[in-house]
Amino acid sequence: MSVSSRIKAAMEGSSWIRRMFEEGRALKAKLGADKVFDFTLGNPDLEPPPQFKAALLAAARDSRPGLHGYMANAGLPEPRQALAEHLARVHQLPFTADDLVLTVGAAGALNIIFKAILDPGDEVVVLAPYFVEYLTYVDNHGGVAKVAETDENFQIDLNKLAAALGPKTRAVIINSPNNPTGQVYAAEILMALGRLLAEHSARHGRPVYLVADEPYRRIVYDNFEVPSIFAAYPDTLLATSFSKDLSIPGERLGYAAVSPRAAGRREVAGGLVLANRILGFVNAPALMQRVVAGLTEVSVDIAPYARRRDLFCQVLSAAGYEFFRPQGAFYLFPKAPGGDDLAFVALLKEENILAVPGRGFGRAGHFRLAFCVPEAVIERAAPGFKKALKSLG
Ligand SMILES: Cc1ncc(COP(=O)(O)O)c(C=O)c1O
Repeated sequence: MSVSSRIKAAMEGSSWIRRMFEEGRALKAKLGADKVFDFTLGNPDLEPPPQFKAALLAAARDSRPGLHGYMANAGLPEPRQALAEHLARVHQLPFTADDLVLTVGAAGALNIIFKAILDPGDEVVVLAPYFVEYLTYVDNHGGVAKVAETDENFQIDLNKLAAALGPKTRAVIINSPNNPTGQVYAAEILMALGRLLAEHSARHGRPVYLVADEPYRRIVYDNFEVPSIFAAYPDTLLATSFSKDLSIPGERLGYAAVSPRAAGRREVAGGLVLANRILGFVNAPALMQRVVAGLTEVSVDIAPYARRRDLFCQVLSAAGYEFFRPQGAFYLFPKAPGGDDLAFVALLKEENILAVPGRGFGRAGHFRLAFCVPEAVIERAAPGFKKALKSLG
């Protein structure tokens, strides 16, 4: 038996995050887990908030019949209604339950969105550095990813983005707060992006969708507010999840939402529902849907992430690294001293520090550090960060 040539190629090129994670596993087996400083995986390590556990127990105890059966492909009415009310409050727009489809994580939401909107050969503009799975998700549905670089501080570069648009562009995907950079896009930039997409859509006679991937929306520091993406552009689709908000990535619950301002709003929502079915998700996990219905305003306490960010920034500054101070999410994306990210990640590994080379996110010359680890790990890694930089001379 053998897999398809496409999957074979994908397996061989498997992501840098996974590769570094596997190397880390081997190193931990050799040296002991406490001797290895693993910053490779963005796997939230904070426990879900107490309200989540209480709601989970209550949902499990609910013995009404039929609670574990199939349902409408869009999901249960109560959580969709609760989420529509949440979105309406946050974005000041008349969302209804029909604008929402509950999904298997933000990943599921992105896949149903691309399935619903892409014709073969349609292009999707992806901003680098990017969450690497975007390339796969676009390809999954016959699309072609076009990469546009962001600027030095990882803000949207409107000129580069404009240059990546063409007659086949069907969507632009943005992610703010951003993985891997921690950048949060400002309202003025989003408004200018909205104007650019409106002009482009009018010129080519079909809408370019703005797909906003926002699983880190509530993980922001210094009271930073993430501007509403729906205010910036009418033909916007949101993909998000409870993976980071509630620290439950393994439970696989998220949703896709269509802007109430989108042209063809109902048709697009219908396409998302169908895509959820025919991609084999059928519906999002039933128990989790019932659990989150009452938790739309609850999120994990982000104070530990904020403390780790501050500590990590101090450690890296003191050692002499150049980096952008993250405004959100839980990643740092420093410049690789010496310029070669592979070589520098290898130097860090000599200090038992595991990081992911920037080229895995479409920007070489940097490396990513995920701070989903206790502060003590960051503290203990500090001498290694210093030594790796010094060893470059
Ligand atoms: C930018 C971004 N988008 C989407 C996802 C997928 O999220 P989920 O686990 O909810 O599918 C992740 C996960 O790390 C992410 O970082």
